Amino acid sequence: MKLLVTGGAGFIGANFIHHILRKYPDYRVVNLDALTYAGNLENLKMWENDARYRFVKGDIADPGVIEPLVAACDIVVHFAAESHVDRSILDPGAFIRTNVQGTQVLLEAAKQHNKRFHHVSTDEVFGALGPDDAPFDERTPYDPRSPYSASKAASDHLVRAYFHTYGLPITISNCSNNYGPYHFPEKLIPLAITNLLAGKNVPVYGDGRQVRDWLYVADHCQAIDLIIHQGTIGETYCVGGNSERENIWIVKQLLTLLGKDESAIEYVQDRAGHDRRYAIDFSKIKDELGWQPEVTLEEGLQKTVDWFKENEPWWKNVKSGDYQEYYARQYDKR
Ligand code: NAD
Ligand code: DAU
Repeated sequence: MKLLVTGGAGFIGANFIHHILRKYPDYRVVNLDALTYAGNLENLKMWENDARYRFVKGDIADPGVIEPLVAACDIVVHFAAESHVDRSILDPGAFIRTNVQGTQVLLEAAKQHNKRFHHVSTDEVFGALGPDDAPFDERTPYDPRSPYSASKAASDHLVRAYFHTYGLPITISNCSNNYGPYHFPEKLIPLAITNLLAGKNVPVYGDGRQVRDWLYVADHCQAIDLIIHQGTIGETYCVGGNSERENIWIVKQLLTLLGKDESAIEYVQDRAGHDRRYAIDFSKIKDELGWQPEVTLEEGLQKTVDWFKENEPWWKNVKSGDYQEYYARQYDKR
């Protein structure tokens, strides 16, 4: 099988390529990535001399780059996106261009060559839950509330439109918050770990009592693996970790794992339009494909802390350059 993975130099895409190349010795992967601030070829260095792996630098919104790559693959697994909610508040335009227009360009090429297409999406398209609301599932109406989630919702709708209108063989997964190796340290867990390792404080938005459902990234990769091989064409699968926690719980757990005290917690101004709670009912993928998370949150956080401790050059390098400018815009105004 030949996979065209978009966004494979990012966090989840890189973990997915590791998963595929390790598990399927006869599979080939082409990784198409524009190498934005979030793309990092260090994440895949171990495969650079492996004949089964090829990297192509390119933009998913460029039809000339996309068309021959889509023509040559068996399936497109589409991760490429602008992925950070805070950046979408600062600069929504980039999110529309990549997440909406880029996805449509890819879909058009997939239609032209009638290729299988898997779209990696998010639980944020469903909006925000109150404390007593039932978790999101595949029937939950869309109600995106940030520029990021609105752009992902638009891309999901386009993917489904290509199935209904043109019969394109698609699947979609809507997943909760991932964490693990190669996680870009602008997101809560890697930001907290790397700040603490560097002797800095952890910025906690608002009262810190927002709830996210956390999933170790390897479990997400296994869910996508099952969907691309056994999922029903045209269907959506919700993927979650069964691990709802308040942000402040996560931060305190990381303080404990890193031997720090609560003086490192710094409450800062809340995120604009901050969604209060996400939660996922993953019964469909459990019942139909036999998937469920394997790594508990406690195990996953320990593994993640260990990975960041062992890979200091990786995150120190990532935290230079554009990151500093973003971080200053994000926090210094407070
Ligand atoms: P990421 O920001 O770490 O990586 C995104 C990758 O896409 C980067 O390598 C970047 O260079 C590349 N990219 C961006 N614009 C591009 C373009 N125009 N053309 C080609 N490549 C481009 O993101 P991530 O956290 O790995 O998320 C991957 C996907 O999974 C996204 O679609 C995201 O919406 C979705 N998702 C993420 C999470 C999560 O918790 N991180 C949860 C559910 C779904
Ligand atoms: O739910 C899936 C989504 O999870 C993905 O679609 C997104 O791509 C991914 O970025 C993630 O979005 P969140 O906004 O939930 O993740 P983030 O790590 O940015 O924030 C997690 C929670 O922590 C959120 O409630 C905001 C809060 N937070 C975040 C940062 C960066 C803080 O309190 N302090 C911080 O410094």
